[in-house]
Amino acid sequence: MVSPGKNMKILVTGGAGFIGANFLNLLVPRHPEHLFVNLDALTYAANPRSLAGLEGRANYAFVRVDLVDFEAVRATFAKHQPEVVVHFAAESHVDRSIAGPRPFLRTNIEGTFNLLEACREAWKPGQGLLHHVSTDEVYGSLGAEGLFTEETKYDPSSPYSASKAASDHLVRAWGRTFGIPVKITNCSNNYGPLQFPEKLIPLMIQNLLERKPLPVYGKGENVRDWLFVGDHCEAIWTVVLRGKPGETYNIGGRSEQRNIDVVKQLCAIVAQETGASETELFGLVTYVKDRPGHDLRYAIDASKIERELGWQPQETFASGMRKTVRWYLGNQDWVASVRTGEYRKWIEQNYGSR
Ligand code: NAD
Ligand code: TYD
Repeated sequence: MVSPGKNMKILVTGGAGFIGANFLNLLVPRHPEHLFVNLDALTYAANPRSLAGLEGRANYAFVRVDLVDFEAVRATFAKHQPEVVVHFAAESHVDRSIAGPRPFLRTNIEGTFNLLEACREAWKPGQGLLHHVSTDEVYGSLGAEGLFTEETKYDPSSPYSASKAASDHLVRAWGRTFGIPVKITNCSNNYGPLQFPEKLIPLMIQNLLERKPLPVYGKGENVRDWLFVGDHCEAIWTVVLRGKPGETYNIGGRSEQRNIDVVKQLCAIVAQETGASETELFGLVTYVKDRPGHDLRYAIDASKIERELGWQPQETFASGMRKTVRWYLGNQDWVASVRTGEYRKWIEQNYGSR
């Protein structure tokens, strides 16, 4: 088992994506005693610019590795000898999983399998720690009432959530069968800085700034339980340090919102921050064909992590949304960089041969 406070070698997978980059930006400067190695394939969803502030730090290293390439994963373990793995890397967008599920099965299932096998080779039973970052979408859809607990049965609806459910099962099985200390967190929808503008909140912010239609699926009545990304990162770190191996912790913000109400609030904040007319902005709402298999409602009972580990979210939805809108307003160059073909070219030039 890993004891908090000692110098740890921590392998973070998917650290160039939305949540992983927020996690590294928070923890690398705060914990110079730990070494953080970021393993990321740099898919479309990654942006190394998100990590610019960490370049040159003695306790941070980056390796471009695809988890599907087992030999490369093994080589990373041999070189860096991690004692803790925090596993963020995944294909994460539900709509993409409907358009083309194959990369989801490869990365989320085969990639997680490869990571587990690398842990099994590197660690004796009972050694090390694999923290698997997962989603509440594995539980399927709620009706109007009730909350997901750690005991809710798995019932995934989309190729994304099915692949994440499979990865959760693999992690638990490798824990029970091979004695790898594993922890799993299942979190609700995140929002905040550095999120790729294909997900609801950054997509709507960008479309508002560009006065493009705001595509709301179905009637906009689906409910998500939103959590500011910084609160999720603190929760993961809390579980890494103090959670019990073999346990699952649900993480959520007690912040249920209908999609149409999220869009309404974004219109109000963007109007206040930019001087635009809120009515004109709300006029951009366009109801479009619903997503197939669209889960109606997600809501998390986070009382286990609150009670046992003392974690609580710090941001309200209003304060987190304001911070997020301000971040996108101030970082339009970041948004432009992830949308252009130039960006892919730059990635290949800078990281192609590493
Ligand atoms: P993201 O799509 O923004 O980032 C994923 C990262 O993983 C990218 O940097 C990408 O390059 C990397 N990656 C993808 N395939 C890889 C591969 N084969 N090998 C190595 N790296 C690879 O995702 P995110 O929103 O930051 O989500 C991170 C994790 O948190 C995921 O496991 C996701 O299921 C989980 N999660 C996300 C949310 C959310 O609201 N975003 C909520 C709960 C749980
Ligand atoms: P999303 O950000 O894709 O997260 P997830 O599907 O993992 O919950 O979507 C959040 C909600 O917003 C979901 O109910 C689908 C809806 N949505 C829209 O209405 N329009 C959009 O353009 C997108 C991307 C999502």
